[in-house]
Amino acid sequence: MINKKIAIIGLGYVGLSMAAFLGNHFKVVGVDSNKEKIRTLEKGRQYFYEPKMSYYLKRAIKNGLTFTDQITKEIVSSDFVFITVGTPIDKYGKIDLSNIKSVSTSIAKNMTNLKNNPSIIIKSTVIPGTAMHVVKPILEKNDLKESVDFDLLTNPEFLREGLAMHDTISPHSIVIGGSNNASIKKLTSLYKATYTKKQNIIETNNITAEVIKYANNAFLATKISFINSIANICQKLPGTNVDKVAEIIGMDPRIGKQFLKAGPGYGGSCFPKDVQALINFANNIGYEPILLDAVKNINTLQVNTVMNLIKQNLKNLKGKKICVLGLSFKENTDDIRESVSVKLVDLLLKQGCNVFVHDPKAMDNIQLVFKDRITYTDSLKDILVDSDCAVIMTPWQDYKNIKEKDLLTMRNPIIVDTRRILHIDNEKISYVGLGIG
Ligand code: UGA
Repeated sequence: MINKKIAIIGLGYVGLSMAAFLGNHFKVVGVDSNKEKIRTLEKGRQYFYEPKMSYYLKRAIKNGLTFTDQITKEIVSSDFVFITVGTPIDKYGKIDLSNIKSVSTSIAKNMTNLKNNPSIIIKSTVIPGTAMHVVKPILEKNDLKESVDFDLLTNPEFLREGLAMHDTISPHSIVIGGSNNASIKKLTSLYKATYTKKQNIIETNNITAEVIKYANNAFLATKISFINSIANICQKLPGTNVDKVAEIIGMDPRIGKQFLKAGPGYGGSCFPKDVQALINFANNIGYEPILLDAVKNINTLQVNTVMNLIKQNLKNLKGKKICVLGLSFKENTDDIRESVSVKLVDLLLKQGCNVFVHDPKAMDNIQLVFKDRITYTDSLKDILVDSDCAVIMTPWQDYKNIKEKDLLTMRNPIIVDTRRILHIDNEKISYVGLGIG
């Protein structure tokens, strides 16, 4: 097994985490059409912030991990070819499979006269039916047959940004969907050779694996919208705190403790896109997904809850100095895709506020969005001085450690804490926790 050759096509969070991890065990080539990314990676550098990745990446490069921007015959003749390209949604909310289709087309072009029959594995999140009805016909164009000349597997990924290496090294489960047992077993044995600990490997067909990935993300998004609804109810009930409610209901094993942290709404490159793509897909196959619609709508509206908390405490917002603390969609990442902080900054600007922002890692990314419309401050201490309100949006450790004496440098020490990470007991500071009545 150790001599197996692996190609990973698409070096985003999923592809690069896999390359960095599997590159320590096998001969791996990472492929990405973006030449600049390839140049950066060849120098052993990441092009986004992800804890612990640098360590594994450097080690894998020493172990022979290489990168290229071309899908060649050599790439396609690997034993395992993972497809980990992005699957965004278009302006109508429908999944955009163009990356999947173009990679499949390049693989097909190079899949002639192969000595081996490679396993082509779709790891990208794809709408049910994609493997069998979109990718398979493309790969079979040159008179090759699935299960004979190549295998086609669906192997969704469950890693979280900010914990990408941790989740790649210790996945909670591995789902493998395929059309025959032998092809599934090949990938199962690759994973068995990779992991020292026994893994929870689920074997199924391609379409079930595709549904599992959407169901997983949609359920987690549902939990968040659910607890955000409860938070909005608690907000109106003096004496209640959503965290207490979440803690107690989470003790019921049928509910579980995780993903019950109320906040400004979920963001990132996955939940908003995947819930939307599933809604669109369900409508197209004749089912009206009213629950998913509600999950999405609750999430879209949650930024208004944050705005209302600011307005209730500041009355007139025009000209006020508002500090937005935390711009990435979650802690331990510099990713601002679909971050609710971006929406909040937009709304504050519309109200005529003077917006100051801070984030331990996402400052470069946010500057590309707002340019000179807001003020960027690297020092958490400085940003607070003479401000009228500070809104904690992302639960970074830095914000948990904010000192009361720094908050007291504000003109109006009003703290809107959307994640309830601060515990303030000082009558000079107005502390407003989202979900605390
Ligand atoms: C999510 C899933 O958790 C992964 O399992 C999945 O592989 C990934 O999407 C994907 O499909 O690629 P990710 O988006 O990286 O991972 O981050 P999460 O930790 O799930 O957080 C998503 C959003 O939900 C963040 O904005 C976070 O702040 C928010 N959230 C999360 C809450 O508001 N409350 C919670 O209790 C948990």
